Amino acid sequence: MVEADHGVVGEVPAAPPSASVVFGDRLADAERFTALLARHGVERGLIGPREVDRLWDRHVLNSAVVATDMTAGATVVDIGSGAGLPGIPLAIARPDLRITLVEPMARRIEWLSEVVTALGLPISVIRGRAEERTVQEQAGGADVVTARAVAPLAKLAGWALPLLRPGGHLVALKGASASEEVARDRDAVRRLGGGAPSIRQYGEDVLDVPTTVVVVERTSSGTRRDRARKTRKDR
Ligand SMILES: C[S@@+](CC[C@H](N)C(=O)[O-])C[C@H]1O[C@@H](n2cnc3c(N)ncnc32)[C@H](O)[C@@H]1O
Repeated sequence: MVEADHGVVGEVPAAPPSASVVFGDRLADAERFTALLARHGVERGLIGPREVDRLWDRHVLNSAVVATDMTAGATVVDIGSGAGLPGIPLAIARPDLRITLVEPMARRIEWLSEVVTALGLPISVIRGRAEERTVQEQAGGADVVTARAVAPLAKLAGWALPLLRPGGHLVALKGASASEEVARDRDAVRRLGGGAPSIRQYGEDVLDVPTTVVVVERTSSGTRRDRARKTRKDR
C-alpha cells in the first residue's frame, strides 16, 4: 500500500524548475506522484530501474505537457495507463479535466487506485481492455483518448476511436516512431473512422526533448463496427 508522501527524500529525484511552470500551484501533488513512482515503481514492475533518475523529464512532464490543447472540462480516457502515464500527470496539471484510466492488469489497477486515493485525485479507474464492450459502455463518448506506449497506431485507433464522440481526438504519445507509424497506418486509420493523422510537439519550452504526439480525429461517420451495429439496429 502506498502512503501519501509529503515532501521528497533521498532517492527521489528533485523537481526541475520546469515542473513549476507545468504544474503551477499543484507542484506538490506532482512531487508526491513522482516520489511514489520512485519509491515503489520498480519493485512493483511499473518502471525500469534506469527510469528513476529521469522520471520528471521522460515521464511526468512528458505526459503533462500534452494537456495544452485540451479544452476546459474535457472528458479524457487514458487507455493502458500502467503506472498512471499520461493520465495522472494530466489530472494533476489540469484539475478541470474529467479523467478515466483504463487498464486490464490487476496489479496495475491496484497501483492506480492506491495512487488516486493517496493523492485525492478525482479520477475514475476502470479495469478492462479498451476494446471491450463494457469499457465502451462505461467510458465511451469521450472528448479525448490518450495513450502512451500501448500499441501501434492502427491497433490503437481501432481501440480508441469507438471510445470517442464524433469530432473527439485520439492523442497518442509516440516519440521518434511517429512519422513512420503515420505513413504506415494512415489508410488503416481512415478505414477505422479516423481523419488524417497529424504530428504535434508539446513542451518545447520546458523539455529538452519535446513530447511527440500523433493526433487523430474521429470523423462523424464513425467506425465500421459502429456503422454495422447501427445497420443491425435499424433493420
Ligand atoms: C508499455 S505499458 C505503458 C504504460 C503507460 N501508458 C506508460 O506510458 O508508462 C502498456 C500498457 O497498456 C496496457 N494494455 C495493453 N493492451 C491494452 C488494451 N487492449 N486496453 C487497455 N490497456 C492495454 C498494458 O496492460 C500496459 O499497462
